[in-house]
Amino acid sequence: MEQREKLYEGKAKILFATDNPDLVIQHFKDDATAGNGKKKGVIDEKGVMNNAISSSMFEYLAKNGVPTHFVKKLNDRDMLVKKVSIVPVEVIVRNRAAGSLCRNYGATEGKVLARPIYELCYKNDAFNDPLMNDDHVIALGLATEEELRAIKRITLQVNELMQKFFLALKIELIDFKIEFGRCKGEIILADEISPDTCRLWEVGTGVRLDKDRFRNDLGNIKEGYQEVLKRVTGK
Ligand code: TMP
Repeated sequence: MEQREKLYEGKAKILFATDNPDLVIQHFKDDATAGNGKKKGVIDEKGVMNNAISSSMFEYLAKNGVPTHFVKKLNDRDMLVKKVSIVPVEVIVRNRAAGSLCRNYGATEGKVLARPIYELCYKNDAFNDPLMNDDHVIALGLATEEELRAIKRITLQVNELMQKFFLALKIELIDFKIEFGRCKGEIILADEISPDTCRLWEVGTGVRLDKDRFRNDLGNIKEGYQEVLKRVTGK
């Protein structure tokens, strides 16, 4: 697989073309941002850890029937994925209250929700990723009703599967954000699944094992990612 030109650079990843028009390389960086880029930093080896964790998550989900963009892990920082056109909607599921749910709705952090919250946000930094509903998505032409149905169905399946996966590792999945892409007319899971995009609390102790350590200056940031990596991959 030959790496070609840079196609896109985001806050945490870079996409490169390959000699195959259907495949791209997703490269994981150590850069970390929070609060829509207001806080910037570097977490040593984050790219390596997130590539490994994401690869394991995509393999697990694919094995359980979830369509994903993942093809294979190429090396420490690179993952080969199917080329998709990203649906500009961030899909969030919350099982317990944390983060913006506490800030915007006054929920107590850690409150177990009566049922999971399925949330959609417009993926657009210039507008601060605002919360949106199905009508916004369809009316603005970001996705069709049928695509949204597929996105919700897959997302709730991902929540069930990931909750089970992490609980077996004594980690509770508090919430997460995922993204979808279109590939040959189909909606498939894309982007990454890592401690950057999930809130993960150790069962029993409530120790934060995710990017909240960076967002909230809790210290031992790298150690949180390392702990997730160790439990997910056994390394
Ligand atoms: P929030 O509580 O800040 O809305 O975040 C909910 C979940 O989504 C949390 O696990 C972090 C993740 N997330 C991202 O991955 N990217 C983002 O841009 C935002 C706002 C949240």
